[in-house]
Amino acid sequence: MESTGPDWEQYYRSGETPWDLRGVTPPLQALAEAGGLAARGLTPGSAVAVPGCGRGHDLRYLAQLGYRVTGFDLVPAAVEEARRLLALNRAEGEVLCRDFLGLGEELAGRFDWAYEYTFFCALPPHLRGEFARVTAALLRPGGYLLALTFPLTAAAAAPSGPPYLVREEDLQVTLARHFTLAASFEAERSAPRRAGAERWYLWQRR
Ligand SMILES: C[S@@+](CC[C@H](N)C(=O)[O-])C[C@H]1O[C@@H](n2cnc3c(N)ncnc32)[C@H](O)[C@@H]1O
Repeated sequence: MESTGPDWEQYYRSGETPWDLRGVTPPLQALAEAGGLAARGLTPGSAVAVPGCGRGHDLRYLAQLGYRVTGFDLVPAAVEEARRLLALNRAEGEVLCRDFLGLGEELAGRFDWAYEYTFFCALPPHLRGEFARVTAALLRPGGYLLALTFPLTAAAAAPSGPPYLVREEDLQVTLARHFTLAASFEAERSAPRRAGAERWYLWQRR
């Protein structure tokens, strides 16, 4: 299925990438440091897919924690930077220049979990169902989607996106066909401009 939406190449070409926190996402680091990944069954050594990984800060961090990471991004410049970041940190991982929504059967069932941050909200809402379908297909049965979901408030969303507002009821409608909500909990150490507008959701593939 063809993805439509913003011109992501243009964002990178112009250097206008306001979503990029220039380092690991603080709530992800807080969760990992508190043992909250392993405690939820996301143990080092497991295979994690990171859709829309951008410059790869979180990918690099997860790789250094011992996860087998595969990032996906549409934009060659982002993919190159993510690969460079892994190499600079001597971290192992794969970054594929692919339309995540166009992934076929070749990767079906390959991953134990997926981690998403500011990818779901970057997709035009009519593509959310496709995101759920493709993510579920990549995961083994019983695998997890760990999502740091943003923006949950209209004030933090852009009026015509991205980021598109994500309401909890939209999440249920979109993901419940393939996933069961296993947990939802507060994000700690959010970047100041995102504080109060993001939350963790752990979905289990049926
Ligand atoms: C808002 S950015 C988030 C990047 C990264 N997750 C972060 O938090 O820094 C969204 C990313 O998704 C990528 N993207 C958008 N649509 C995509 C698609 N269909 N397949 C793969 N990547 C996509 C963009 O190129 C961009 O790097």
